[in-house]
Amino acid sequence: CEHQSFVGNWKLNKTVREAAALVTSLQTLVADVTDVEIVVAPVFTGLSAVAQALAGGDIRLAAQDVFWEDSGAFTGEVSPGMLKDVGCDYVIIGHSERRQYFSETNENAKALRSERTGKTGAVVKDHVLNGIVGLSADQITSTVIAYEPVWAIGTGHNATPDQAQEVHALIRSLLSEIYSPDVASQVRIQYGGSVKPDNAAALIAQPDVDGALVGTASWEAESFAQIVKVVC
Ligand code: 13P
Repeated sequence: CEHQSFVGNWKLNKTVREAAALVTSLQTLVADVTDVEIVVAPVFTGLSAVAQALAGGDIRLAAQDVFWEDSGAFTGEVSPGMLKDVGCDYVIIGHSERRQYFSETNENAKALRSERTGKTGAVVKDHVLNGIVGLSADQITSTVIAYEPVWAIGTGHNATPDQAQEVHALIRSLLSEIYSPDVASQVRIQYGGSVKPDNAAALIAQPDVDGALVGTASWEAESFAQIVKVVC
């Protein structure tokens, strides 16, 4: 269980007040969960309030995007250091929605700059290889890779446990070739795409599925808590 990690990607949802309320409920519901990593990813405007609500607890904070420069004339962007400053341990990089709606192709520059805060959302071999170019063994072991089949995102049609396992095993074998079997075994590979309380257990039971990147079901504290709790 210690290797399992669950991220709630809130996407474009929740006012500051709603974000704080959600995470406060979540903390109560998962108070007895100690052996899995739980992360929430609010919109930028919610990060500060959620960080305050989480202070001193075990739930960790992620942003949903980042820019690779530290500062400068880049209107509208937020840097890795700024995310750390507000309390983020992680950031989601290269989500398929960034690619679909914002023509993003630059996840590698973001991953390289984010280092320990990095999370690469990669869906196929090319994405994995492009996303991790230049990352050291230390950097890759603090990165979480999420496999999210685009047809499963927000559709209610999750990959079957076998389908997820097949792709996760492929990703781990790529990591093993590039780094080493030992390094590959330390990298968390999450499944995402219509993860719900009733399908999480079977997905997580797969040997190469190390947790989940949850969208819709993380927007309510109860359903996200149920998913986290089915694990152990
Ligand atoms: P859903 O859980 O709503 O399918 O979203 C998955 C996702 O894109 C998480 O990043």
